[in-house]
Amino acid sequence: MKNSKKVCITKNGPYLVSGNVLLAKELSIAGKSGEPEKWKKGNKYPKQESCALCRCGNSNNKPFCDRTHAKINFNGTETASKEAYLKQAEKLSGPKLELTDAQELCSAGRFCHLAGGTWSNVEKSGNPKSKKIAIQTACNCPSGRLVVWDKKTGKPIEPKFKSSISLIEDTQAKVSGPIWLKGGIELESADGKKYETRNRCTVCRCGNSGNKPFCDGSHIDCEFDDGDESLK
Ligand code: FES
Repeated sequence: MKNSKKVCITKNGPYLVSGNVLLAKELSIAGKSGEPEKWKKGNKYPKQESCALCRCGNSNNKPFCDRTHAKINFNGTETASKEAYLKQAEKLSGPKLELTDAQELCSAGRFCHLAGGTWSNVEKSGNPKSKKIAIQTACNCPSGRLVVWDKKTGKPIEPKFKSSISLIEDTQAKVSGPIWLKGGIELESADGKKYETRNRCTVCRCGNSGNKPFCDGSHIDCEFDDGDESLK
């Protein structure tokens, strides 16, 4: 069945979301290690058949567009690759798991830092504890930069998501993060071409990414704040 949940990027303007997509806040929460370890669901927005989400970072009605982009002459030029994830990714092989890593897509969620890092746990994946940490940390990566693969089956190990959109709040760094497209939402460029539809990806809503439409972690440097209570 054709997926009708879709995000269309407009030239120097907002993301147009269609298909009655569930929209909610989602908070990354640090654990004892001081690094982000889990996700917590936040407030949901009332469902709408379609909406326009701010992409320039300057709307006074975030997360929705209020046309400020036109007043500030927002430059939303998309410079990201449209190549499939696997073409962009490097591979790392461990005893039980393989890791694919497309650095360009990193949205600085930092879940991969836990317990020596996803990479070293993949390398030690013959040890069940390391294997578990590698899977947990890669599956928590919101951008889909990191994907672990079961070497026995040759299949990716992906988190199960309903098609939905989350607005990330990074409660450790005390900044608002990207828009998280979950569960295979289509992403169409302002030029009408499609990016690869994936189970997870993160698109910029601070306006400052150098890899638009995807988030590149710049929201941390520019201390992007959408006014969420969790950041106070
Ligand atoms: S939201 Fe992450 S770079 Fe803009």
